[in-house]
Amino acid sequence: MQIGDDQGQLLTMLTRLISARRAVEVGTFTGYSSMCIARGLAEGGSLLCCDVSAEWTEIGRRAWESAGLADRIELRIAPALDTLRDLPKTADIDLAFIDADKPGYAAYWAELVPRVRPGGLLLADNVLWSGRIADPEVADANTTALRDFNDMVAADDRVETVVLTAFDGLTIARRR
Ligand SMILES: C[S@@+](CC[C@H](N)C(=O)[O-])C[C@H]1O[C@@H](n2cnc3c(N)ncnc32)[C@H](O)[C@@H]1O
Repeated sequence: MQIGDDQGQLLTMLTRLISARRAVEVGTFTGYSSMCIARGLAEGGSLLCCDVSAEWTEIGRRAWESAGLADRIELRIAPALDTLRDLPKTADIDLAFIDADKPGYAAYWAELVPRVRPGGLLLADNVLWSGRIADPEVADANTTALRDFNDMVAADDRVETVVLTAFDGLTIARRR
């Protein structure tokens, strides 16, 4: 499912606030959040999108074309972890947005944190999981993965973190 309009506006604003030029999105689907990030990029900026679905992202490709954003978005169809591992190990990413398979979040985080520059942002969506993370009766794989992810992020002193309890929960972490 895609993020809502208000969250999209927040993504655009955060991207602008840090004058992001280089951004990475993990989980693109039909391209809405990628458009919100791409719109906020500074002149000459680019967004790398990671997704496994050629079918859903084809809708995104058409939307990027219509919106005049296609020239600043690169899409890689592959498991996101493979794409992230192939990126240079330099801290030159300004903004990363994680919104794909929940059990993968911790591994995406591990690859992204060292590649985000000091002052850059890491964002992770759905961290409240409709409140299920706080329900001790719920122990499915997605909920457990998000609980573990939230604990890991809270203990990670490479970042300072706020969890926005709006939308479905959005982690906003600033790289120290
Ligand atoms: C919630 S949707 C992304 C929504 C999008 N960020 C938006 O708000 O417009 C999750 C996406 O993650 C993708 N995905 C799932 N597992 C993946 C993986 N291992 N690697 C890359 N993408 C994956 C799915 O194909 C799906 O398109």
